[in-house]
Amino acid sequence: MEEKQNREQWGSKIGFILATAGSAVGLGNIWRFPYIAGVNGGAAFILIYIAAILLIGYPLMCTEVALGRRTQKNPVGAFASLSKGKSWRFVGGLIVLVAFFILSYYSVIGGWSLAYMTKSVIGGFKPTFNYEELFTGHISQVWEPIIWHGIFMILTIVIIESGVLNGIQKWSKILMPGLFILLLALAIRSMTLSGASEGIAFFLKPDFSKITFGTIQAAISQAFYSLSIGMGPLITYGSYLSKKDNIPDNVGWVAGADTTVAIIAGLAIFPAVFAMGYKPNAGAGLAFITLPAVFSQMAGGSFFGFIFFVLLSVAALTSAMSLLEVVVAWIIDEKGWNRRKASIGIGILVFIVGIPATLGYSVLSDVKFLGMDLLDTYDFITNNIVLPITGLFTAIFAAYIWKVEYAMEEINTPKGKITFGSFYRFLIMVIIPIAVCFIMIMNLIEKFGA
Ligand code: PFF
Repeated sequence: MEEKQNREQWGSKIGFILATAGSAVGLGNIWRFPYIAGVNGGAAFILIYIAAILLIGYPLMCTEVALGRRTQKNPVGAFASLSKGKSWRFVGGLIVLVAFFILSYYSVIGGWSLAYMTKSVIGGFKPTFNYEELFTGHISQVWEPIIWHGIFMILTIVIIESGVLNGIQKWSKILMPGLFILLLALAIRSMTLSGASEGIAFFLKPDFSKITFGTIQAAISQAFYSLSIGMGPLITYGSYLSKKDNIPDNVGWVAGADTTVAIIAGLAIFPAVFAMGYKPNAGAGLAFITLPAVFSQMAGGSFFGFIFFVLLSVAALTSAMSLLEVVVAWIIDEKGWNRRKASIGIGILVFIVGIPATLGYSVLSDVKFLGMDLLDTYDFITNNIVLPITGLFTAIFAAYIWKVEYAMEEINTPKGKITFGSFYRFLIMVIIPIAVCFIMIMNLIEKFGA
């Protein structure tokens, strides 16, 4: 049967690379990676992280892109059409569901970032502010964070509604080079402050004694999250990749760009943090409390603060686009909706489901799950529980159901600089499933303290 001809495609391989890099480069690169590296042995951790990418992340990325391109479908359709009896459909369903839930809280954080971008212009970052109070004051309001979450979702919807070429590709081509330039500017400013070397040492000084099983687990988990593995964007964006483009080379650019951005982010953040006499941390505390305080002490700080929050917002937006596209592609392919109705309908639903996560700091602050607020609960369930399961199933599916020979055939056609062979077969059939089981068990032990 002839392939459906009406599926949109990237206009060029650069379109695919930038859009997929947009999905990969996100909050994970900016506020998680640098700190995890800093406390886990600096450059020693980075080496382990790169090994995790080469041996697990990159082969899985190529596998997911191949699944999408082979089937020309969203995750549900992709799993269903390559398995007889369609029993694997549920894995695709789980992937779409996880994308939906991740987007619902990712957008809340995107909203905080937009709010801080505006604050940096309106009030600036003054040294006299108490930044901890400013942040808790912001998120513990009822309406303001909901409105910013709504604005963030509207931006995401508008881009996705415009389609693969005129929305995702067009905006990725503008936003991703912009993000890179802003990040470089910030890194140069940060590294030229006096006292910057302490921050560089925190981030990069190798300490091999810190490398344990826990470090390896942290490296693999971070690689999964950072490369958007197991959540559908790679399958979905792969389904828009032309059969004329080679998979390993193009995906290699994406993995390389993602890692480069994570390393430069460390060089943009920690030298400034140490130079201004603050302590390193990660996550929301770093982005919304420590860094604004750091900027408030720097000459030109409000300007650099503005740049930082533009950067954070852009990183969050291009990742959010890919998550919404996963769900939209599913509903277009499987339920026959048009793109407009799908983007707006799903976007509104995501907005509504995200509301409890914003209210977890105000009216719902008493609702806790294992001691975590609602936003952290969404994050924990999706990233620590569902994501390794979808990653594991994807590897098993490609290796044993679709069959590794067919996966390799798709990956290797047309031929590029890198060809997958028996080493890939060994990784996808044996090493990757074992490694993913390992991180899943470690994550659970860590949380539930078995
Ligand atoms: N890779 C993104 C980050 O590092 O922040 C997070 C993410 C985006 C995960 C999109 C999954 C996804 F589908």
